[in-house]
Amino acid sequence: MTIASNTGRSNVAMLGIGAYRPKRLVSNDEVCEVLDSSDEWIYERSGIRNRRWISGDETARSMAKIAGERAIANSGIPKEKIGALILASSSWKTKIPHGGPVVAYDLGMNGIPAYDIGAGCGGFGYGLGVAADTVRAGTAEYVLVIGMETMSVVMDPTDRGTAFIFGDGAGAVVVGPSEENGISPTVWGSDGENSSAIGQNYDIPEYMDVAQKMQHKDPATEPLDRMVVTMEGPRVFRWAAITLPKALGQVIELAGIDKSEIDVFVPHQANARINELMAKNLGLSDDIPVANDIENTGNTSAASIPLAMEEMLATGKAKAGQTALLLGFGAGLSYAGAVVTLPPAPKITSFDDLD
Ligand code: COA
Repeated sequence: MTIASNTGRSNVAMLGIGAYRPKRLVSNDEVCEVLDSSDEWIYERSGIRNRRWISGDETARSMAKIAGERAIANSGIPKEKIGALILASSSWKTKIPHGGPVVAYDLGMNGIPAYDIGAGCGGFGYGLGVAADTVRAGTAEYVLVIGMETMSVVMDPTDRGTAFIFGDGAGAVVVGPSEENGISPTVWGSDGENSSAIGQNYDIPEYMDVAQKMQHKDPATEPLDRMVVTMEGPRVFRWAAITLPKALGQVIELAGIDKSEIDVFVPHQANARINELMAKNLGLSDDIPVANDIENTGNTSAASIPLAMEEMLATGKAKAGQTALLLGFGAGLSYAGAVVTLPPAPKITSFDDLD
């Protein structure tokens, strides 16, 4: 007896990208109506001027659906051919059920394997790696990877360590076979010894409008009665300074390319200072574009890399077919990186429906 095995395609790539940005733009000054900080401090320490937070009928679910729809439309791959969906997120409101099947249903793809990856801000890199290997193994021909977060819902607006950093949004890519390989092997890892550096206090709430939360919050008298993210920023910064340069070196080595062949650097949008340091330490030349979506989108955790790629492609800062170095990192602590070929510039962009 021989048990059958799959055969896939060794050359895979991102064939399309799509994203959704919430309509509400929140400036540093608005954040500082509640937070004891200033526009100058926030910009100098993090590179953030604005972030976007959900409002009205925008939810985690609606953003994941729209980003997924746009990625599929922009890829030109018929929806029926998508064989699996991976949702990278830490802010889906329930653990049971997980979000993947709900999003697949919303996208009119009920029945396909759909599941969540919880790897913090590194989640998109994990999802991309698993999707690429799924296609390589022949387990699915095309995989939709969605990174989505509603960090505003799980944030204490008075916490000086987190309130100014996080934003909401969703970005997605379709991964499938391609003539030339466009996704290198993934370099990924974790450091559970330092897991307490980014965490949470309580369980994730249903839905809470952050504006409402800011109005009602009186830190002096009201104890926190809902889940918010906690972060020891300087501890994460130190960990990042030691771990990430090594990971970047490994990504380039494993991809079999020379540093000089990198056209674009798209690190997780955690802090523009960390990203500048990484680019400098890596010795990337000054004219290599480095994603800086954080300036007006904030840190959107698992959504930040697809959002940043989409922003660069939509605005012409990066071009389809260029070689990009990706690196996600965050809660876990964990990280995942790869060298990729950028997908076609999106025909439908996340800026189309913004004012
Ligand atoms: N506004 C104004 N001042 C603040 C402040 C705020 N929001 N937060 C802290 N401060 C003050 C501190 O009290 C301290 O003052 P002191 O020097 O008089 O004691 C000073 O600013 C420095 O504080 P520190 O906490 O060391 O700030 P930092 O320079 O490390 O910046 C982060 C804070 C969060 C921006 C930074 O640590 C960071 O980005 N860390 C990594 C985050 C990350 O990568 N996360 C993973 C993915 S989510």
